[in-house]
Amino acid sequence: MADKKDSLSITDNRTGKSYELEVTDGTLRAMDLRQIKVDDNDFGLMSYDPAYKNTASTRSQITFIDGGQGVLRYRGYPIEQLAEQSSFLEVAYLLYNGELPSRSELAEFQHSITHHTMVHENIRELIDAFRYDAHPMGILTSTCGALSTFYPDAKNLDDANVRKLQMQRLIAKMPTIAAYAYRHRRGLPYVYPDNDLSYAGNFLNMLFKMTEVKYQPNPVIEKALDVLFILHADHEQNCSASAMRSVGSSHTDPFSASAAACAALYGPLHGGANEAVVRMLTEIGSKSNIKNYVDKAKKGEVRLMGFGHRVYKNYDPRAKVIKKLAYQVFDEVGKNPLIDLAVELEKIALEDEYFVSRKLYPNVDFYSGLIYQSMGLPMDIFPVLFAIGRTPGWLSQWEEMLTDREQKIARPRQVYFGHGKRDYVPLSERE
Ligand code: SDX
Repeated sequence: MADKKDSLSITDNRTGKSYELEVTDGTLRAMDLRQIKVDDNDFGLMSYDPAYKNTASTRSQITFIDGGQGVLRYRGYPIEQLAEQSSFLEVAYLLYNGELPSRSELAEFQHSITHHTMVHENIRELIDAFRYDAHPMGILTSTCGALSTFYPDAKNLDDANVRKLQMQRLIAKMPTIAAYAYRHRRGLPYVYPDNDLSYAGNFLNMLFKMTEVKYQPNPVIEKALDVLFILHADHEQNCSASAMRSVGSSHTDPFSASAAACAALYGPLHGGANEAVVRMLTEIGSKSNIKNYVDKAKKGEVRLMGFGHRVYKNYDPRAKVIKKLAYQVFDEVGKNPLIDLAVELEKIALEDEYFVSRKLYPNVDFYSGLIYQSMGLPMDIFPVLFAIGRTPGWLSQWEEMLTDREQKIARPRQVYFGHGKRDYVPLSERE
């Protein structure tokens, strides 16, 4: 038997011609299809893949997911170990730079993030201009874009240090913007950052400080929030990361690109699911209603929010960690009554052939909202918390795209099936 080659031999039955296409990392290069033509006028074959369900848009070294085994690793480190032993800022450094920081590198990074948490007073005034009941994700999406007008230097994408500075600015300012949006919603005065506190501790300070001279974060809540940010930090080519890469590929500044990523994350099928889960559980109301709701989901009348995943066909490893974390938080602040409903719903769904056959398991959003709710946060800020966690991932994917020599401006092709050429009909001659 001749040595097996990493290639496909293809015969085009339209012409009888044969082609040998190289297989690399389990993929065909789509551009290799273009040589397959019926005649010299033929553009050549393209691949057609709506929603890119089977298309690799990039080669990446950042995050590895094995959807079948429920494995998630950031730069090779298992998510379970990072959640247990690392910190969000250390993970942010790891994702962006590719290696765990030394003690001095981590200290320098933490210092830089801490000292970029303030936003220009015009940003505060911009947030003030929103309606009192503006959805915080609408505020975050708009304000990320507005940041680009404060840092014109961010357009100098050829300079790695300029890119790094914008990364630090955005990671640092996301919690400030999120907290301002929350305080605006509550009609409370904004709380400025406290540089003595940790990243998560300062976020809690800006959310919840009232008349006390110095806010003291609850260490259990502070740690839980830090772990939740770690678990949300990156997830390879998800919808919002793809938006960051695609918009960033036009060489716009990272603040404008992150506004696009925020907008993608806002959708209920993506980052908006954690809010939708709590609304779903509240609607279900009691265990006796679960079966009826599941039946509606099986008929396609509703979606079981927080269930299913494009990549995970097994239990989302993040959901496992979050479920355990939930009980730790409940021990501190009191149990969220919806947790029993969520656990029962999970049990019923995972024993139901509809979900089992489609490999629909709880994902990262199924339990996270219950923790946020028990922390006293309103439902519509849940996707904002997801965005804070995902910011280092967006920026790491953006950095990798900009430094990847194979990447160009993202511009997919299409299959046109509209009208052929036809002449304009003046209004006077139309029905
Ligand atoms: C996130 O990409 C990422 O990595 C995302 C994320 C990240 O970290 O960035 O992990 C975060 O977005 C998690 C997902 C949060 N969204 C939800 O929980 C919303 C509910 N889930 C679904 O809408 C859905 O599962 C998706 C959007 C997550 C995935 O959709 P797919 O891969 O396009 O799957 P599909 O819609 O083609 O569904 C396949 C089948 C369909 O049934 P049939 O057509 O075969 O009969 O499964 C069914 C769907 O109807 N199905 C569900 C379901 N999810 C899929 N049925 C009921 N409830 C669900 N949740």
